[in-house]
Amino acid sequence: MNVLVIGNGGREHAILKALKKSPKVNKLYCMKGNAGTAEIAENINVDYMNIEAVKNYVNDHPEIDYFVVAPDDPLAIGLVDELEAMGKRCFGPRKNAAIIEASKAFSKALMKKYNIPTSESETFEDYEKALSYVRAKGAPIVLKADGLALGKGVLICQTLKQAEEGLKEIMLDKAFGSAGNKIVIEECMQGLKYTPGEEVSVLAFTDGKTIVPMITSCDHKRANDGDKGLNTGGMGTFSPCPFWTKELEDEVMQTIMIPTMNAMNAEGRTFKGCLYFGLMRTNKGMKVVEYNSRFGDPETQVVLPMLKTDLMEIFEAVTDERLADINVEWENGACVCVVLASGGYPLSYAKGKEITIGELPENVDVVHAGTAVKNGKLVTNGGRVLGVVAKGKNIEAARRLAYSAVENVNWENMHYRKDIGVKYREG
Ligand code: GLY
Repeated sequence: MNVLVIGNGGREHAILKALKKSPKVNKLYCMKGNAGTAEIAENINVDYMNIEAVKNYVNDHPEIDYFVVAPDDPLAIGLVDELEAMGKRCFGPRKNAAIIEASKAFSKALMKKYNIPTSESETFEDYEKALSYVRAKGAPIVLKADGLALGKGVLICQTLKQAEEGLKEIMLDKAFGSAGNKIVIEECMQGLKYTPGEEVSVLAFTDGKTIVPMITSCDHKRANDGDKGLNTGGMGTFSPCPFWTKELEDEVMQTIMIPTMNAMNAEGRTFKGCLYFGLMRTNKGMKVVEYNSRFGDPETQVVLPMLKTDLMEIFEAVTDERLADINVEWENGACVCVVLASGGYPLSYAKGKEITIGELPENVDVVHAGTAVKNGKLVTNGGRVLGVVAKGKNIEAARRLAYSAVENVNWENMHYRKDIGVKYREG
């Protein structure tokens, strides 16, 4: 099969690397891709948010058999619907199901209606009413812009002043554009054992009839060590989550995953693709922090290397609604991804810095995100630039290996966290 993956980042490079292992795959394409994807796929320089341009490209390339739409924004505008209307086979939810990520107000209403455990919340379109609610509830409190905001639309406010400022930023100053036309205001969940909370990402394959959780992973969203600094797209991940148990998985399957799949079916919004459950272990059980309609980034970079089953086989089974027939298997051991970012990220940063990558030890891989080739040289081309991914017999072994490999990568003003894989150590 010839397969086109849509997206530019580390997640897409990791998906392509997993597909490359499949005997079913002939040629890979990536729209638009990066310097890493170009090593294993043909990069296509078409803006995937321009549906007409994508359709023209697809019309001109009937040799492409299968499409993987990886990022949230093309899913939210219905790129899968458009490709399916052209008779193409795809992995990724249709627009009416991608709303589970594209509207926080929708997902909170869904959870309320179907009794899926989550934090208490209210949704507002009116600034004054939202302000009164925030003042009545006090801090800490969480503000979420309703729409997609490049992962930046969630503000965890420790003081009432921060909450009032955040509310103004989202609703009046429109810091995230129309994503802030509505706002979800949530209670701040507390973790069972760790402060401020213990989050786990559980990505799941689903065809709308069956839901199969992947190996668990944990993200590090803040820019600096000790979970300090600004929120980012993710500075590193590790898998599996140390506090995850068979009992938790059973609880989550029964109270969250199957009810969510059924709820989407009941709403006439069958979800087919990768449904991402951002969960928190609280003293009142597992609760949903957020849903995403896609593979996580950088979770994918540590999850897919642990997959033993052929990813292409799983993708096709999801498309054909026969996921129940597939035995999805995972390796033992652990995987850690340390994200190497441009200094200044997530605020302003320089691009075009020359990257050097020395020899890498065994069981280490480099996943590209914001990279490009200019004048024959590998250069930085984004905030998150590379992910150094290592596998080991446990998280400690994998993290030591990843950090030893990081020593061999360099560019001017490279920034990375030194504590990826340390949290939740005692489970
Ligand atoms: N790592 C968080 C996300 O993919 O949204």
